[in-house]
Amino acid sequence: MNVPDSISAQEIVPGVFMLEVDGLTRLATRSTDPAPVYGERIMGGYRLWDPFRSKLAALLLKSKGQGLRLKRDAKVLYLGAATGTTVSHVSDIVADGLVYAVEFSPRSMRDLIRLCERRKNIIPILADAARPEAYAALVEPVDLVYQDIAQRNQAEIASLNCARYLLFDGELLLMLKTRSVDTIASPEAVLQREKKNLLGLDLIDVIDLLPFHQDHWAMQAKKP
Ligand SMILES: C[S@@+](CC[C@H](N)C(=O)[O-])C[C@H]1O[C@@H](n2cnc3c(N)ncnc32)[C@H](O)[C@@H]1O
Repeated sequence: MNVPDSISAQEIVPGVFMLEVDGLTRLATRSTDPAPVYGERIMGGYRLWDPFRSKLAALLLKSKGQGLRLKRDAKVLYLGAATGTTVSHVSDIVADGLVYAVEFSPRSMRDLIRLCERRKNIIPILADAARPEAYAALVEPVDLVYQDIAQRNQAEIASLNCARYLLFDGELLLMLKTRSVDTIASPEAVLQREKKNLLGLDLIDVIDLLPFHQDHWAMQAKKP
Protein backbone atom coordinates (compact mmCIF):
# COMPACT_ATOMS: atom_id res chain seq x y z
CA MET A 1 0.00 0.00 0.00
CA ASN A 2 1.40 3.41 -0.95
CA VAL A 3 1.19 6.10 1.67
CA PRO A 4 0.35 9.43 0.04
CA ASP A 5 2.37 12.48 1.11
CA SER A 6 -0.74 14.44 1.93
CA ILE A 7 -3.96 12.70 2.82
CA SER A 8 -7.19 14.06 1.49
CA ALA A 9 -10.02 12.93 3.72
CA GLN A 10 -13.73 13.66 3.67
CA GLU A 11 -15.62 13.57 6.97
CA ILE A 12 -18.84 11.71 6.11
CA VAL A 13 -20.31 11.92 9.63
CA PRO A 14 -18.68 13.38 12.72
CA GLY A 15 -15.52 11.42 13.41
CA VAL A 16 -15.73 9.11 10.38
CA PHE A 17 -13.68 9.75 7.25
CA MET A 18 -13.39 8.49 3.69
CA LEU A 19 -9.87 8.39 2.22
CA GLU A 20 -8.62 7.49 -1.23
CA VAL A 21 -5.76 5.01 -0.83
CA ASP A 22 -4.26 3.31 -3.89
CA GLY A 23 -7.36 4.18 -5.90
CA LEU A 24 -9.65 2.59 -3.31
CA THR A 25 -12.10 4.34 -1.03
CA ARG A 26 -11.22 3.45 2.56
CA LEU A 27 -12.99 4.26 5.80
CA ALA A 28 -11.06 5.63 8.78
CA THR A 29 -11.31 7.25 12.18
CA ARG A 30 -8.78 9.58 13.78
CA SER A 31 -6.75 8.70 16.82
CA THR A 32 -3.99 10.34 18.79
CA ASP A 33 -2.74 6.88 19.80
CA PRO A 34 0.06 5.94 17.37
CA ALA A 35 -0.19 2.20 18.14
CA PRO A 36 -2.47 -0.01 16.05
CA VAL A 37 -5.11 -1.95 17.98
CA TYR A 38 -5.55 -4.99 15.70
CA GLY A 39 -2.88 -4.52 13.04
CA GLU A 40 -4.74 -1.79 11.16
CA ARG A 41 -2.83 0.69 9.00
CA ILE A 42 -2.43 4.19 10.47
CA MET A 43 -1.69 7.05 8.07
CA GLY A 44 -1.22 10.61 9.32
CA GLY A 45 -3.37 9.90 12.37
CA TYR A 46 -6.13 8.20 10.33
CA ARG A 47 -6.78 4.59 11.36
CA LEU A 48 -8.07 2.58 8.41
CA TRP A 49 -11.24 0.71 9.30
CA ASP A 50 -11.80 -2.63 7.57
CA PRO A 51 -15.45 -3.40 6.66
CA PHE A 52 -14.67 -7.13 6.55
CA ARG A 53 -13.57 -7.01 10.18
CA SER A 54 -16.18 -4.61 11.52
CA LYS A 55 -19.92 -4.65 10.82
CA LEU A 56 -20.16 -1.00 11.77
CA ALA A 57 -17.56 -0.12 9.13
CA ALA A 58 -19.51 -2.21 6.60
CA LEU A 59 -22.70 -0.33 7.44
CA LEU A 60 -21.05 3.07 7.18
CA LEU A 61 -19.39 2.25 3.86
CA LYS A 62 -22.62 0.92 2.40
CA SER A 63 -24.80 3.74 3.69
CA LYS A 64 -22.21 6.52 3.14
CA GLY A 65 -22.49 7.38 6.80
CA GLN A 66 -26.25 7.03 7.26
CA GLY A 67 -27.05 5.24 10.49
CA LEU A 68 -24.57 6.87 12.82
CA ARG A 69 -25.02 10.29 14.35
CA LEU A 70 -22.69 10.44 17.34
CA LYS A 71 -21.49 13.63 18.94
CA ARG A 72 -17.91 13.74 20.17
CA ASP A 73 -19.13 13.62 23.78
CA ALA A 74 -21.77 10.89 23.26
CA LYS A 75 -22.13 7.86 25.52
CA VAL A 76 -22.39 4.40 23.97
CA LEU A 77 -23.35 1.05 25.45
CA TYR A 78 -21.53 -1.54 23.33
CA LEU A 79 -22.72 -5.15 23.73
CA GLY A 80 -20.37 -7.84 22.43
CA ALA A 81 -17.11 -5.90 22.61
CA ALA A 82 -14.85 -8.91 21.94
CA THR A 83 -11.20 -7.79 21.96
CA GLY A 84 -12.08 -4.23 20.97
CA THR A 85 -11.69 -4.01 17.18
CA THR A 86 -14.83 -1.97 16.52
CA VAL A 87 -14.92 -0.58 20.07
CA SER A 88 -11.60 1.16 19.36
CA HIS A 89 -13.07 3.01 16.37
CA VAL A 90 -16.17 3.98 18.36
CA SER A 91 -13.79 5.24 21.05
CA ASP A 92 -12.13 7.45 18.39
CA ILE A 93 -15.51 8.83 17.28
CA VAL A 94 -16.70 9.69 20.81
CA ALA A 95 -13.29 10.97 21.87
CA ASP A 96 -14.81 13.18 24.62
CA GLY A 97 -17.53 10.67 25.52
CA LEU A 98 -17.62 7.14 26.89
CA VAL A 99 -17.98 3.59 25.60
CA TYR A 100 -19.34 1.05 28.08
CA ALA A 101 -17.97 -2.18 26.57
CA VAL A 102 -19.79 -5.35 27.68
CA GLU A 103 -18.26 -8.74 26.93
CA PHE A 104 -18.82 -12.09 28.61
CA SER A 105 -15.73 -13.98 27.45
CA PRO A 106 -12.91 -13.65 30.02
CA ARG A 107 -10.34 -14.40 27.31
CA SER A 108 -11.52 -11.51 25.09
CA MET A 109 -11.84 -9.30 28.15
CA ARG A 110 -8.13 -9.70 28.88
CA ASP A 111 -7.23 -8.05 25.53
CA LEU A 112 -9.97 -5.48 25.96
CA ILE A 113 -8.58 -4.42 29.34
CA ARG A 114 -5.17 -3.88 27.73
CA LEU A 115 -6.87 -1.58 25.21
CA CYS A 116 -8.63 0.29 28.03
CA GLU A 117 -5.29 1.00 29.67
CA ARG A 118 -4.41 3.08 26.60
CA ARG A 119 -7.87 4.56 25.99
CA LYS A 120 -9.48 6.20 28.96
CA ASN A 121 -12.94 6.54 27.40
CA ILE A 122 -13.65 2.79 27.32
CA ILE A 123 -15.10 1.14 30.44
CA PRO A 124 -14.71 -2.65 30.24
CA ILE A 125 -17.56 -4.66 31.77
CA LEU A 126 -17.33 -8.45 32.11
CA ALA A 127 -20.99 -9.42 32.05
CA ASP A 128 -23.76 -11.20 30.20
CA ALA A 129 -25.67 -8.70 28.05
CA ALA A 130 -28.81 -10.80 28.55
CA ARG A 131 -28.80 -9.63 32.19
CA PRO A 132 -28.56 -5.85 31.90
CA GLU A 133 -29.41 -5.37 35.56
CA ALA A 134 -25.96 -6.83 36.38
CA TYR A 135 -24.22 -3.64 35.24
CA ALA A 136 -26.71 -1.07 36.51
CA ALA A 137 -24.18 0.32 38.98
CA LEU A 138 -21.69 1.03 36.18
CA VAL A 139 -23.66 2.31 33.20
CA GLU A 140 -25.30 5.73 32.78
CA PRO A 141 -28.09 6.47 30.28
CA VAL A 142 -26.61 6.39 26.77
CA ASP A 143 -27.17 7.98 23.36
CA LEU A 144 -26.54 4.75 21.46
CA VAL A 145 -26.87 1.06 22.22
CA TYR A 146 -24.73 -0.91 19.77
CA GLN A 147 -25.08 -4.69 19.78
CA ASP A 148 -23.07 -7.36 17.95
CA ILE A 149 -23.57 -10.69 19.68
CA ALA A 150 -24.32 -14.04 18.10
CA GLN A 151 -27.21 -15.15 20.31
CA ARG A 152 -30.55 -16.78 19.56
CA ASN A 153 -32.49 -13.95 21.27
CA GLN A 154 -30.58 -10.95 19.88
CA ALA A 155 -33.61 -8.67 19.52
CA GLU A 156 -34.82 -9.49 23.03
CA ILE A 157 -31.39 -8.70 24.52
CA ALA A 158 -31.26 -5.41 22.62
CA SER A 159 -34.77 -4.47 23.79
CA LEU A 160 -33.94 -5.20 27.44
CA ASN A 161 -30.82 -3.04 27.30
CA CYS A 162 -32.57 -0.19 25.49
CA ALA A 163 -35.43 -0.20 28.00
CA ARG A 164 -32.97 0.21 30.83
CA TYR A 165 -30.17 2.37 29.42
CA LEU A 166 -31.16 4.14 26.20
CA LEU A 167 -32.10 7.82 26.48
CA PHE A 168 -35.38 8.91 24.89
CA ASP A 169 -34.59 9.86 21.31
CA GLY A 170 -31.48 7.68 21.57
CA GLU A 171 -30.75 5.00 18.97
CA LEU A 172 -30.13 1.30 18.75
CA LEU A 173 -27.85 -0.27 16.15
CA LEU A 174 -28.34 -4.02 16.19
CA MET A 175 -26.08 -6.10 13.98
CA LEU A 176 -28.39 -9.06 13.49
CA LYS A 177 -26.80 -12.41 12.62
CA THR A 178 -29.73 -14.44 11.39
CA ARG A 179 -27.97 -17.83 11.50
CA SER A 180 -27.49 -17.48 15.24
CA VAL A 181 -31.24 -17.00 15.70
CA ASP A 182 -32.37 -19.87 13.46
CA THR A 183 -30.27 -22.10 11.19
CA ILE A 184 -33.24 -23.62 9.36
CA ALA A 185 -35.52 -20.68 8.49
CA SER A 186 -34.46 -18.35 5.67
CA PRO A 187 -32.47 -15.28 6.72
CA GLU A 188 -35.30 -13.04 5.43
CA ALA A 189 -37.87 -14.89 7.57
CA VAL A 190 -35.65 -14.55 10.65
CA LEU A 191 -35.24 -10.85 9.94
CA GLN A 192 -39.01 -10.32 9.76
CA ARG A 193 -39.47 -12.25 13.03
CA GLU A 194 -36.74 -10.33 14.83
CA LYS A 195 -38.25 -7.00 13.74
CA LYS A 196 -41.34 -7.95 15.78
CA ASN A 197 -39.16 -8.85 18.76
CA LEU A 198 -37.71 -5.34 19.01
CA LEU A 199 -39.92 -4.01 21.78
CA GLY A 200 -40.35 -0.37 22.83
CA LEU A 201 -38.45 0.87 19.78
CA ASP A 202 -39.38 2.34 16.40
CA LEU A 203 -37.52 0.68 13.54
CA ILE A 204 -35.91 3.28 11.27
CA ASP A 205 -33.98 1.26 8.74
CA VAL A 206 -32.63 -2.20 7.91
CA ILE A 207 -29.54 -2.59 5.72
CA ASP A 208 -27.96 -5.87 4.67
CA LEU A 209 -24.20 -6.00 5.15
CA LEU A 210 -23.34 -7.82 1.93
CA PRO A 211 -20.77 -8.17 0.44
CA PHE A 212 -18.86 -7.74 3.69
CA HIS A 213 -20.88 -9.99 6.02
CA GLN A 214 -23.20 -12.79 4.87
CA ASP A 215 -26.63 -13.13 6.54
CA HIS A 216 -26.12 -10.03 8.65
CA TRP A 217 -28.39 -7.01 8.79
CA ALA A 218 -27.91 -3.70 10.54
CA MET A 219 -31.17 -2.78 12.24
CA GLN A 220 -31.45 0.85 13.27
CA ALA A 221 -34.18 1.84 15.72
CA LYS A 222 -35.08 4.79 17.90
CA LYS A 223 -36.54 5.04 21.37
CA PRO A 224 -39.69 7.12 20.91
C1 LIG B 1 -19.02 -11.09 16.65
S1 LIG B 1 -18.15 -10.91 18.13
C2 LIG B 1 -18.08 -9.15 18.34
C3 LIG B 1 -17.12 -8.43 17.46
C4 LIG B 1 -16.98 -6.98 17.86
N1 LIG B 1 -18.27 -6.35 18.00
C5 LIG B 1 -16.17 -6.20 16.87
O1 LIG B 1 -16.71 -5.77 15.84
O2 LIG B 1 -14.99 -5.96 17.12
C6 LIG B 1 -19.38 -11.28 19.32
C7 LIG B 1 -18.92 -11.14 20.75
O3 LIG B 1 -20.06 -11.14 21.59
C8 LIG B 1 -19.75 -11.83 22.76
N2 LIG B 1 -21.04 -12.25 23.36
C9 LIG B 1 -21.91 -13.17 22.88
N3 LIG B 1 -22.97 -13.26 23.68
C10 LIG B 1 -22.79 -12.37 24.68
C11 LIG B 1 -23.55 -12.00 25.81
N4 LIG B 1 -24.74 -12.57 26.07
N5 LIG B 1 -23.06 -11.05 26.63
C12 LIG B 1 -21.86 -10.46 26.39
N6 LIG B 1 -21.09 -10.79 25.33
C13 LIG B 1 -21.54 -11.72 24.48
C14 LIG B 1 -18.86 -12.97 22.29
O4 LIG B 1 -18.07 -13.49 23.36
C15 LIG B 1 -18.03 -12.29 21.22
O5 LIG B 1 -16.84 -11.76 21.73
